[in-house]
Amino acid sequence: MAKDEVGNKTSMFVLLLCVGFLFKLAMGTAIPAVTEKPPLQELPQVHLSLRAQEEIRQLEVRIDNAEAAALADLTTSPDHARRVALLGKLLLFDKNLSVNRNEACAFCHMPETGFGAPVSELNMTTVSYPGSVRTRFSNRMPQAHEYATYSPVLHYNAMQGDFVGGSFWDMRATSIRLNSPVAQQAQGPPLNPVEMGLIDSACMVYRASQRPYRVLEKESGACRHLLLNGRRISIRCAAYQVRRALPIRCPFISA
Ligand code: HEC
Repeated sequence: MAKDEVGNKTSMFVLLLCVGFLFKLAMGTAIPAVTEKPPLQELPQVHLSLRAQEEIRQLEVRIDNAEAAALADLTTSPDHARRVALLGKLLLFDKNLSVNRNEACAFCHMPETGFGAPVSELNMTTVSYPGSVRTRFSNRMPQAHEYATYSPVLHYNAMQGDFVGGSFWDMRATSIRLNSPVAQQAQGPPLNPVEMGLIDSACMVYRASQRPYRVLEKESGACRHLLLNGRRISIRCAAYQVRRALPIRCPFISA
């Protein structure tokens, strides 16, 4: 190879190196480093109208009154089956089972609307309901669950050529394990971040164990110790719903 040719190749190599270096420098300043965090997006805040706030305030008073009346029955109701259903009722009206102690199940399911959505202003506007964190809204409209206990375990009905049973709008609480769609369903809301918002079922158990109705749980089950767990709590909720729908002994009472 001629001397000149070697020199040309070397300077070409150095030139390419310089161009590469400059390119990398330019890219480095133009494109932010991977470790840099993107600017935080403001979460959309949903503000309730004054009318909705006023209706919610009145609803909360009604829920507190219903709970107080049910608590008064703690000492007067001797019948075992009634006491299990009473426990379910107290759980349904207990706002302490939500993260901010402000939202009972009844907030979205009041008896006066067939255990459905009770705030007309929300029904006419947002349709879905705010959770215990009031700026977070649930995904769908609360279902009226007056008749939910009649729903069987999800199964395929050949005659109808369709699936039948389960709980929720999309039947996803199939209840293959618990044999009660509403009992399976009731395990969801306390831990749903857009509903009652507790972080773990242990929080629900702890909160419930601090409430006056703990005596009912103690006496109502085959449990030797105070065995309040999430599944039992959901079964109690279902027991109340069954008792509302059918004035007969329900299969969950012995669960
Ligand atoms: C923030 C509102 C909200 C709260 C609080 C709430 N729910 Fe619901 N509930 C809903 C919504 C929304 C649905 C429908 C959800 C779906 O289909 O995905 C629903 C569905 C149900 C259903 C199903 C009815 C059917 O026909 O399948 C039952 C039963 C029920 N809830 C009971 C409860 C119980 C018990 C609690 C308390 C432990 C509770 N809910 C707390 C909003 C709420």
